[in-house]
Amino acid sequence: MTDRPLKQIHLAAHFPGVNNTTVWTDPASRSQIEFASFRHLAQTAERGRFDFFFLAEGLRLREVNGLIHDLDVVGRPESITVLGALAAVTTHLGLAATVNATFNEPYELARRFASLDHLSGGRAAWNVVTSSDAFTGANFRRGGYLDHADRYTRAAEFVQLTREFWDGEDVRHRGPQFDVEGRLPLPRPPQGHPVVIQAGDSDEGREFAAAAADIIFSRHSTLASGQAFHADVKRRLAAYGRKPDELKIMPGVTYVLGDTEDEATERAAEIRRAQVGPQTAIAFLEQVWGIDLSGHDPDGPLPAADPVADSTLVQGRTKLGDPLEIAARWRAVAAEKQLTSRELVIEVTGRQSFIGTPATVAAQLDAYVQNDAADGFILVPHLTPGGLDDFVDQVVPLLQERGVFRTEYTGTTLRDHLGLPVPGRR
Ligand SMILES: Cc1cc2nc3c(=O)[nH]c(=O)nc-3n(C[C@H](O)[C@H](O)[C@H](O)COP(=O)(O)O)c2cc1C
Repeated sequence: MTDRPLKQIHLAAHFPGVNNTTVWTDPASRSQIEFASFRHLAQTAERGRFDFFFLAEGLRLREVNGLIHDLDVVGRPESITVLGALAAVTTHLGLAATVNATFNEPYELARRFASLDHLSGGRAAWNVVTSSDAFTGANFRRGGYLDHADRYTRAAEFVQLTREFWDGEDVRHRGPQFDVEGRLPLPRPPQGHPVVIQAGDSDEGREFAAAAADIIFSRHSTLASGQAFHADVKRRLAAYGRKPDELKIMPGVTYVLGDTEDEATERAAEIRRAQVGPQTAIAFLEQVWGIDLSGHDPDGPLPAADPVADSTLVQGRTKLGDPLEIAARWRAVAAEKQLTSRELVIEVTGRQSFIGTPATVAAQLDAYVQNDAADGFILVPHLTPGGLDDFVDQVVPLLQERGVFRTEYTGTTLRDHLGLPVPGRR
């Protein structure tokens, strides 16, 4: 490491309850829809002096074989509505909503985020996602109509227009995606432009982030892949006249704490078993195999049949890759380690990112940031809504002692927390 000053860590809280990291069997598990749950997690994050609170988005419930699959996605309220309510019960915490740029319109979205920024005193952030699978698109007038490359063309034009609306300009725009004229009925938001987050991983996604985003929510949560991703994206900034610290990289990470290393490891294994119950294991296999496996024994070997390509059995989930190739790889792992179907799913869906005592977890998080594998983390707890309590009580104080995390907010807006200036008018 060089002798540069210590980097400060940025922290965000991802609201759980909508994915298969959530453990529903824990007696402490509560509703993912009631306001009390959102308030608990947000106020815990603010007590921990986090940068922001984060809501993902899913526009259609996943289906298996034409039936709603309610094991891991059980519905969620609309994000900006939730954040508007949280703005009233928090004072400093940033409030980030994931909203799709493929199915919405710039004027409407600019208006909603500008409103949230005004009402919260400069704490709004927009996570721009583009996912446009036809299944989700069928919810909308235009349907699932954009190819992958066109989605980012649209997203770039969308964000540019949104910024013009935020600037309070008279917008007159004729482009490939939009034909709009007008202005927002609101003054420029307190942050100038609410913070823009990006969460795609393709080459187009990275380029879009380098051009237009303040934060990347990444999947690269190991040290080596984090460093490679960090170097790749930061290198792209210069072409847009931007400096490396103008874009923060925050991987989504999970963690498990224990009083000793052994206790944490044991708890982590227990949580993995709870996250991947027998039905979840079957649902996961169906996603790859593309055939009905409801009669398959999760405690026996992997299905003997080969997967079916281009199956529509599972809808509303990102495809993991070539099914035949994945199945071959998994068969090899299962044979080598003597795993049942369920054990295999536990194995290939990965362990938690950070496991240990509060001291070792704090040290690892710090090392990731100082060694440029990340600028901070979006923490994904496995329990709604109390999953961050132990982290805030036990890990945050240690990060503060290390001098790498704020002990008090030094500003009031999310841009203040991130060290990002208010952008000038364009
Ligand atoms: C860490 C991460 C989180 C994401 N969260 C969401 C989400 O909450 N809602 C959504 O519709 N898409 C989400 N996406 C999907 C991306 O926005 C994007 O549509 C998808 O990754 C395809 O773009 P890409 O090919 O550039 O990766 C997420 C992607 C990543 C990498």
